[in-house]
Amino acid sequence: MPLLEVQHLRVEYAADRPAVAVDDVSFTVGEGEFVGVVGESGCGKSTLLFALARLLSPPAEITGGSVEFRGRNLVTMTEKQLSLLRWRDFSVVMQSAMNALNPVASVGAQFADALTAHGRFTKAEIAERSVEVLRLVGIDPIHLRSHPHQLSGGMRQRAMIAMALLFTPDLVIMDEPTSALDVVAQRALMVQIRQLQSQLGFAVVFVTHDMSLVSHFSDQLLVMYAGQVVEAGPTRTVFDRPAHPYSRGLLDAFPSVRGPRVPLTGIPGSPPDLSRPTAGCRFQPRCPVALPECATTRPPLYQVGSAHSRCLLNAPAPEEVKS
Ligand SMILES: Nc1ncnc2c1ncn2[C@@H]1O[C@H](COP(=O)(O)OP(=O)(O)OP(=O)(O)O)[C@@H](O)[C@H]1O
Ligand SMILES: [Mg+2]
Repeated sequence: MPLLEVQHLRVEYAADRPAVAVDDVSFTVGEGEFVGVVGESGCGKSTLLFALARLLSPPAEITGGSVEFRGRNLVTMTEKQLSLLRWRDFSVVMQSAMNALNPVASVGAQFADALTAHGRFTKAEIAERSVEVLRLVGIDPIHLRSHPHQLSGGMRQRAMIAMALLFTPDLVIMDEPTSALDVVAQRALMVQIRQLQSQLGFAVVFVTHDMSLVSHFSDQLLVMYAGQVVEAGPTRTVFDRPAHPYSRGLLDAFPSVRGPRVPLTGIPGSPPDLSRPTAGCRFQPRCPVALPECATTRPPLYQVGSAHSRCLLNAPAPEEVKS
């Protein structure tokens, strides 16, 4: 049984212009696996992560599918059942630590709150664990007395990660935990997350805009476009042989870190309005290799070697279907 199994997940924003921000998303996360989620702004990455952790609030709502964590469906759990799992078995690090940390409480007080809300600990145990997790992320335990504004951006992100590790969960869900940092600090934090992961053995679902980060750190890659998974597979495979034109565009849009300098072609245009879905492939209006039928046919996910791609060009040839 995989650690996390997401099937046909659907999330809608029921605003004045209803939008399906996560549309029929399925993927699995194995024990200790690092899954990277990439895609342009607005394609539904944060909504997907919030849905996995059951942290969505109105107008967003899960309207279909399941999220099984160790075989138990989080989508149908009550808040009470969820609170027994959240933080202890899986935890979340969100896009901005400044929004997630309480500005008027010290780091130590926030750790103590999280620990006492989800378990029974003595004062000594709380102190011991708090020091331990701060050391894990390379922060001097003296900062348990600091308030968030007294820490640098990088330290705040580390403190958030420390908080997510208080109970040594099996899964840590991270939404661009390094995006507020400069490139050097980003690298350092990523290396640290990866080290912690191999040391403690937790799995990670990681959203980022940075293709070079995922290329170095993730095992599996999920490429999202307009609320859908358009390509999924082992990271190396997707980087070496991207099957979907959107993945190719995304990769071309990022300079290779070590390779020769190439002109950035990027992807002209912008993602579609999710409140007005079109009849065919969602990428068709921007696709450099679209066929006439792409405007009218919605492609399913086709298997391409060890990966999957939502592109009609990846449909098996008719003779392959027969055999
Ligand atoms: N509060 C909201 N009300 C209505 N629609 C929303 C709301 N928040 C998000 N959406 C819709 O959901 C889509 C996905 O948003 P989401 O924040 O998940 O994207 P993202 O991939 O995380 O983007 P980014 O890379 O900028 O963080 C948006 O394009 C928008 O259509
Ligand atoms: Mg986001």
